[in-house]
Amino acid sequence: MMNPNWDKLYASAFERVRANLGNAGSVLLAYNTNVDVLRYLRRDDLEERIERAGRDEVLGYSSELPEMIKSVPQLLGSILWSVRQGKAAELFVGSCRVRFYMKRWGWDEVRMGGQVGIMANLLGGVYGVPVVAHVPQLSRLQTGLFREGPIYVPKFENGELKLVHPKKFSGHGGWEEDSPIHYIYEFPRGFRVLGFEAPRENRFIASADDYNTALVIRDEFREGFDEIAAGVGLAIISGFQALTEDTYREPFGVVKEHLRVLSEREVPAHLELAFTPDETVRREILRLLPMFWSVGLNEVELASVMEVMNERDLAEKLLSSDPADADAVIEAMLKLAALGVRRIHFHTYGYYLALTAYRGEFVRDALLFAALTAATKARLGDVPSMEEVAKSLKVPVGGMAGPVEEALTKEYGMKDGIAEINGYQLAFVPTKIVERPKSTVGIGDTISSSAFVGEFALRRGTQMKRL
Ligand code: AMP
Ligand code: GLC
Repeated sequence: MMNPNWDKLYASAFERVRANLGNAGSVLLAYNTNVDVLRYLRRDDLEERIERAGRDEVLGYSSELPEMIKSVPQLLGSILWSVRQGKAAELFVGSCRVRFYMKRWGWDEVRMGGQVGIMANLLGGVYGVPVVAHVPQLSRLQTGLFREGPIYVPKFENGELKLVHPKKFSGHGGWEEDSPIHYIYEFPRGFRVLGFEAPRENRFIASADDYNTALVIRDEFREGFDEIAAGVGLAIISGFQALTEDTYREPFGVVKEHLRVLSEREVPAHLELAFTPDETVRREILRLLPMFWSVGLNEVELASVMEVMNERDLAEKLLSSDPADADAVIEAMLKLAALGVRRIHFHTYGYYLALTAYRGEFVRDALLFAALTAATKARLGDVPSMEEVAKSLKVPVGGMAGPVEEALTKEYGMKDGIAEINGYQLAFVPTKIVERPKSTVGIGDTISSSAFVGEFALRRGTQMKRL
C-alpha cells in the first residue's frame, strides 16, 4: 500500500522549494545547446515513406541501429527501431542528402534543445535563477529561442568579458544555415506502423549538428573560464554523448581544466548523463566522475555505465523489468558512490531515487519538486510558469511505484521516502505520471536540473536562516 502522506509531502515540498529558489545562486550550464524541431509521427505518412525508400532495407535497420545515419533507409529504420522498442535513441546524420530529406519532411514545432538550452529556459526563464550558458552557435534562430529572464552568455567586448542575454549577443557567431538542428520524431504509446506497436511513448533524434556532436567549446569559455566560474555557485555539465574515440580527446582536455577550476572554487558540479554509445567515451566519463558532486541518470544510462565497469549481469538486470528493479538500481548506485560522487540521482518512469553522502529531508523535497515540473513538461511539452507547475499537484501519482515503496520499506525501514543504506541516505519519491503526454523530449533534463538546483536552494536557504 502506498504511503498516504505523499499528497501532503508534495504540497509542502513545492511551497518550500518555490520560496527558496532565490537562494540557489547562479548556475553555470555547459556545453550543449541546439535547436529541436519536432515531428509528431503519423502512420500513413511514415508507411508511405518506408515503402518509397525500400521496405526490406528499412526493416533491416530496425533491429539494429547503425553508428550514424548516412542514408534515408537508415533514418527510417532507426525511427522504426525506436518505435518497436519504445526507447529513445539519438544518432548523428552525416549526409547532406538525408539532412535535406528531413528538412523537406518538415516539422510541427520548433523548440529550444540540448540540455543547456532546456535547463537555461527552465532555471532562468521560469525559476528566476540566474544562469550562464554555453551556446556553441549563437545564430538568430538559436538565440530567438531563449526566454526572457536572467539568462546570460559571456561575450568579449574590447577585450573584457561581459555577460549579456543571448538575444543581445550581436555579431552572431555563424551562418544562419549552420544552426545545429535536431530532428525529433515523437510517437505516442500504442503508435502502430507496419504491424509494430510502440510499447511506450518516446522519440528518435536525428542530429544535423556539427557543433554539439563534436563538443565545440567557444573561445569565451576557453579563455575566460576562470572569470565565468568566479561568478557562479553551481554548475551543470552535459553534452558528451555524441563524442567518439576519435573526437573526445581535445574537448575533454578543456573539460578537465574547467572541472579543476570549478572544484578549486568549491562550486558543486552536476553531471547530466545522456546515453553515450561509444564505450571509450563512457570509460573516460567514468574517469571524470570523481570531479563531480552529483550525477543524474536514467535506467538505460545507469546500465550503460555498469557495462563499462564490467558489471554486465547487473546492467542486464537493470533493463529486464519495468519499472527498473530497485534492488539492482541501488546496487548500481552504490558502485557509483564508491567512486567518490556525493549525490547520485536516478530517475525512471514511476519513481526517482537519490543516494547521498549526506542526510536531510531537503534531498527528498527537491525530488518531489522535480516530479511536479516533469509532470508539467509531460502535460504541456514545456514548463511555461510556476502556476502551471502548481497545477501539476493535481496529477495523480503513478501506481507502478507502490511495490517499489513497499520493498524499500520492508528491506531498509524507509519512512516517508527516507532510508539509510551502507552509510548513505537513500531518498525515494513516487512520481506523478501524465497519462497522455504531449511529448517526451527534455523531461529528463527538467527533472535533474530542478532536483539539483532545488536541493541547493533549500540547503542554502536553511543555512541563511541559521546565520
Ligand atoms: P529521459 O529519458 O532521461 O529524458 O527521462 C525521461 C523521464 O521522464 C523518465 O525517467 C520519467 O521519470 C519521466 N517521464 C516520462 N514520461 C512521463 C510521463 N508521461 N509523466 C511523467 N513523467 C514522465
Ligand atoms: C539531447 C538532444 C537534444 C534534446 C535533449 C533533450 O541533448 O541532443 O536535441 O533537446 O537531449 O534532453
